[in-house]
Amino acid sequence: MTNLELSPRLHLIADWVPQGARLVDVGTDHAYLPVWLLVHGKIDRAIASDLRKGPLERARQTGRIHGVEEKISFRLCGGLDATKVHEVDTVAIAGMGGETIAQILQAAPWTKEPQMRLLLQPMSRSETLRQYLADNGYCITREQLVADRGVVYPVLEVMAGEMKLTLGQVYCGYLLQKDPLAERYIIEKILQLQQIIAQRKGRAPQQAVDALRDVVASLLELREEWRHGNTT
Ligand SMILES: C[S@@+](CC[C@H](N)C(=O)[O-])C[C@H]1O[C@@H](n2cnc3c(N)ncnc32)[C@H](O)[C@@H]1O
Repeated sequence: MTNLELSPRLHLIADWVPQGARLVDVGTDHAYLPVWLLVHGKIDRAIASDLRKGPLERARQTGRIHGVEEKISFRLCGGLDATKVHEVDTVAIAGMGGETIAQILQAAPWTKEPQMRLLLQPMSRSETLRQYLADNGYCITREQLVADRGVVYPVLEVMAGEMKLTLGQVYCGYLLQKDPLAERYIIEKILQLQQIIAQRKGRAPQQAVDALRDVVASLLELREEWRHGNTT
């Protein structure tokens, strides 16, 4: 068995997978996450699914190399289309855009069953994902930032429930106040948005530019709240 190193993103998700979880890893690609969890004895079996044949073949290869291929059910499908509610209690969806993750959840309403733990890691458009979760009966129970190859990403643990988010929280996270990377994350978001506003000024409809200005104002407010420690 060779050594398998997880990226910081996947490592954080692996840490959050409960011992003995019944896991499906959606968009598994190399299947690093389920293979690492199996090799380290954290889980006994897993489902690894991917939309494309190539990544699923790579997933099989990783399983074979590390001697756990027999413990993984490989499924070629979009999202959770080939996973049944009674098979899993933990759903990992990492390394995709926030919009895609929201679409995968929308197509699988059973992810709102009370026993279900979702571990979500959007690479982009995290605001689309947080808004979708808030509007559709999900609640973020844990959120943490991780720096991976020079970029800061949020990782979300989500369960069924109610949550209300301010505009700032939609864009920059719900439970990040004490996160060591929170200041960097929010400043980077503000700078990105200010750049977009400068590019669109005079070109895009005024209403759209004003909406972005509102987001920046809400992020500046959230940053102050984080600094003074009086919110989530
Ligand atoms: C960048 S890789 C992420 C691999 C791994 N999850 C990670 O976080 O490092 C994205 C993978 O998701 C798969 N994918 C994209 N959209 C998908 C969908 N709707 N359903 C299932 N898999 C999808 C792609 O084929 C690709 O293998």
